[in-house]
Amino acid sequence: MSLIQTFNDYQQQYKHSIEHPEEFWASIAEQFQWRKKWNKVLEWDFYKPEVKWFTGGKLNVTENCIDRHLSTRANQTAIIWEPNNPKNEARKISYQELHREVCRTANMLKAQGVKKGDRVCIYLPMIPELAFTVLACARIGAVHSVVFAGFSAKSLIDRITDAGCEIVVTADGGYRGEKTINLKGIIDEALEKCPNVSRVIVFEHTKTNPPMKAGRDLPWKEEIEKVNAECAAEEMDAEDMLFILYTSGSTGKPKGMVHTCGGYMVYTAYTFKTAFQYKEGQVYWCTADVGWITGHSYIIYGPLSVGATTVMFEGVPSWPDWGRFWQVIERHRVNIFYTAPTAIRSLQQAPSHFVEKHDLSSLKVLGSVGEPINEEAWHWYDKNIGKGKCPIIDTWWQTETGGFMITPIANVTPLKPAHATLPLPGIQPAIMNEGGLEIQGNNVEGRLTIKFPWPSMARTIYGDHQRFKETYFSSFPGKYFTGDGCKRDQDGYYRITGRVDDIIIVSGHNLGTAEIESAIDEHTSVCETAVVGFPHDIKGQGIYAFVTCYDQPTDVEKLRAEIKETVSKIIGPIAKPDKIQFVSGLPKTRSGKIMRRILRKVAEGDTSNLGDTSTLLDPAVVDEIKAGAL
Ligand code: PRX
Repeated sequence: MSLIQTFNDYQQQYKHSIEHPEEFWASIAEQFQWRKKWNKVLEWDFYKPEVKWFTGGKLNVTENCIDRHLSTRANQTAIIWEPNNPKNEARKISYQELHREVCRTANMLKAQGVKKGDRVCIYLPMIPELAFTVLACARIGAVHSVVFAGFSAKSLIDRITDAGCEIVVTADGGYRGEKTINLKGIIDEALEKCPNVSRVIVFEHTKTNPPMKAGRDLPWKEEIEKVNAECAAEEMDAEDMLFILYTSGSTGKPKGMVHTCGGYMVYTAYTFKTAFQYKEGQVYWCTADVGWITGHSYIIYGPLSVGATTVMFEGVPSWPDWGRFWQVIERHRVNIFYTAPTAIRSLQQAPSHFVEKHDLSSLKVLGSVGEPINEEAWHWYDKNIGKGKCPIIDTWWQTETGGFMITPIANVTPLKPAHATLPLPGIQPAIMNEGGLEIQGNNVEGRLTIKFPWPSMARTIYGDHQRFKETYFSSFPGKYFTGDGCKRDQDGYYRITGRVDDIIIVSGHNLGTAEIESAIDEHTSVCETAVVGFPHDIKGQGIYAFVTCYDQPTDVEKLRAEIKETVSKIIGPIAKPDKIQFVSGLPKTRSGKIMRRILRKVAEGDTSNLGDTSTLLDPAVVDEIKAGAL
């Protein structure tokens, strides 16, 4: 893979990638194993929209993620599995074992009649069998649709139905800290409304002995015994579907984003290796769940395709205590650690001895993903975890983009706290104004679009190409619209300001909620903040901040005044919140995203119908927030 070692290399590679994109991506794609080379690198039309990479190319992604490593690193660990309970032993799976397990799992699926093109719903906890099943689907050309094992029966019904899955792979249960989740019970409930599912394979993990429905449910351990470990990989077209992954839309039903084989593989491998500067033999840990795109691209496909050692963690950061992440880093001598700002902020609240008692000296590179990282969290992460020596790779990307888009390159890109910095080679961002024109130059702000295709972009929304077009290609015709706002500063660095649906216009000024939140978080008493707009007679929209503190505030009015002063200093008086409500927690989805829809309603004084709150991690916080509304 073309190495970037200096900032100058980056600039040259970037320039080349923009001037000669096809040549650039072909030179990267050539480093993989293709059964047949492509005829054409790229065909595209953002108006239709239609994008095809490496057309005519034939391959199987698992041959690249597994088989091709066997001659050089058969005994190297591919996956380190760290269980929920630290008293239990970690499991190390070599590339050779991974090959065997993926082939067996693939044969088990085939024995149930799964064929190329069939959609397979995977509802498993963070155990190695989740990775085996994902890769087994890829091996036989089946399309996996992983549903996060924290989602409800209702979410499963929507996803199983939309994708037309006839088979589900699940487990009896999963562990999350002290809790045991009854996955099979949730599947049983969901399948009452999914008559087309005729087979459920159940892995025994929590040993909770769930009822098995005769004729439908099959124990994994019995079925896997019936098959052998030889499974030739199916030959796939570069543009054949690899997987569907659902992401929530701004309204209505979830969108099944479709990713295809060739481009996705090439791009996730390239970006993993480039952004983190992964070196042979390093241990890499991404704390995401495989139920999200981060887990797909950067626990499984990206790391394995470059022959890395990737950690899969079943547990949570807070159990048995707040030192759990740091203990795992110490235990496995993790070199690259990739997590989310929401996790960083909660870890920041814990007493510092939880960090201090662990040896974090193996760390070389840190990563962040999922939302803009506020400056305070950035500095805490840098100082306490990276000890000032590890670059923080703030990766901006989306389920739709498949891989990193705007991100620093470790030890290459000069960093700026809370900035995703610069686009990776091949990525051409354009900032647009509301009138639909591209804003040139630096020191500008607007809506973030991408004007040229990249290999891992989603090709469509499963079964609804029209929605794909409307959501992503109609706001700015001819460009992919990300839904995010962003700034490009005087040095050309990008800072994502948050979803544009989260932008508030106060007295005619555009303010990113994320930016205000980051400013409020700078106050030393503040732990986490969510800001929404509310109708304001004079300003158009006012700013309402929901704030959690490390300690219960003693003098509420004094703290409010200090917070306003902090914001005034960091952004300007215009961004001072009009209302500050102190709360004990924010309403978050199980993936850690703040449900702003609820907060907006509370801020608007309309609490009669808050919609569905069942997907919240802790629905009780909503009552407290309603009761304390200002
Ligand atoms: O708003 C951006 C934010 O998360 C959105 C994508 O969410 P999702 O599809 O769930 O994927 C999350 C994992 C890639 C983006 O539109 N986002 C993600 N990463 C960052 C971010 N915002 C700022 N900085 C980031 N590093």
